[in-house]
Amino acid sequence: MGTDIAQLIVSQHVDVILVDTNKEALNRAKEKMRKQLQFLHEHHFIEEAADSIIARIHFSEQMQDVKHCWLVIEAVPEKKELKQQIFKELEAVCHSDVIFATNTSGITVSSIAKELTYPERLVGMHFFMPASIIPLVEVIKGNDASEPVLEQVMHFLKKIGKQPVLIQKEVPGFIGNRIQHAIAREAISLLESGVASAEDIDTVVRYSLGIRLLITGPLEQRDWNGLDVHLDIASYLYKDLENRTTPSPLLEEKVYKGDIGVKSKQGFYNWEEENISSIQLRKNIELLELTKWLERKEQENKKSSSASVTNLNSSDNV
Ligand SMILES: NC(=O)c1ccc[n+]([C@@H]2O[C@H](COP(=O)([O-])OP(=O)(O)OC[C@H]3O[C@@H](n4cnc5c(N)ncnc54)[C@H](O)[C@@H]3O)[C@@H](O)[C@H]2O)c1
Repeated sequence: MGTDIAQLIVSQHVDVILVDTNKEALNRAKEKMRKQLQFLHEHHFIEEAADSIIARIHFSEQMQDVKHCWLVIEAVPEKKELKQQIFKELEAVCHSDVIFATNTSGITVSSIAKELTYPERLVGMHFFMPASIIPLVEVIKGNDASEPVLEQVMHFLKKIGKQPVLIQKEVPGFIGNRIQHAIAREAISLLESGVASAEDIDTVVRYSLGIRLLITGPLEQRDWNGLDVHLDIASYLYKDLENRTTPSPLLEEKVYKGDIGVKSKQGFYNWEEENISSIQLRKNIELLELTKWLERKEQENKKSSSASVTNLNSSDNV
């Protein structure tokens, strides 16, 4: 994730220092970025050549190299103690006005900031994979966060072309992961109980809810559907939905066996025969095309609604 965040920021002409304690991880990061950027360049999504973008990144194994940065974004594994430790080390290196951000997927920011001398400088900055393409970033306000820090972070994200949403009250998983995990919990449960195959469950979601959710979020969608209809369905359906409070046995069994998805070539699907990196690049292009389409549509919709307001104002009859 750190690689992708670095790629996003450096592509917007902001110099980046990418720190990882594992030299191999740094080499992999550079290669992954080169491949992705070359692909984007070849498909005319970016003008600048991959090597010229990558030249703006300083790859380092030393934490003290971030000393002169104004913003440090942490993306180490999702373990609270490790994140707390990293920020303690960063406090020893950075001046007190340097802003810290954590890309945690759902650990509360206040609990990560607990041991800091200046907890007001830490915010959540939750990117979605792939961070260089998905527009949204959840900015999470912990209990101690300062308003100027939040404002600076929101401003920076907008400047690099992102769509930040400020989450005022921190809850584990924030918004995106709470909804994503509610969907995944139900989908895994349907698979586990033999209702349909993984392919069919995915097809139902992709070709119905998936398409609709791109245009209307779940709450607006309910308005179009009718809240009375929703209430009728909710009254009999909720008691039948998956509501387990621990991960499903099917998920645990897969992870214990090492079937962790694309990374091990086996998850809910078998990826053995597939050319994973070309599939990933193709999917990234599809996501890029979709986000570009969405941006264009929003611009057109804005233009046509301001045109109708102008018409309305210029009419003598209304
Ligand atoms: N993978 C995703 O889809 C995704 C999406 C959103 C948020 N996140 C969050 O981003 C964070 C990172 O996730 P990931 O999937 O990239 O994990 P990852 O395990 O793939 O990468 C973590 C990197 O951190 C490095 N690292 C470990 N200890 C370090 C230290 N002490 N100093 C410097 N580097 C260190 C590792 O070498 C590794 O390269 C997590 O908090 C995760 O929840 C992940």
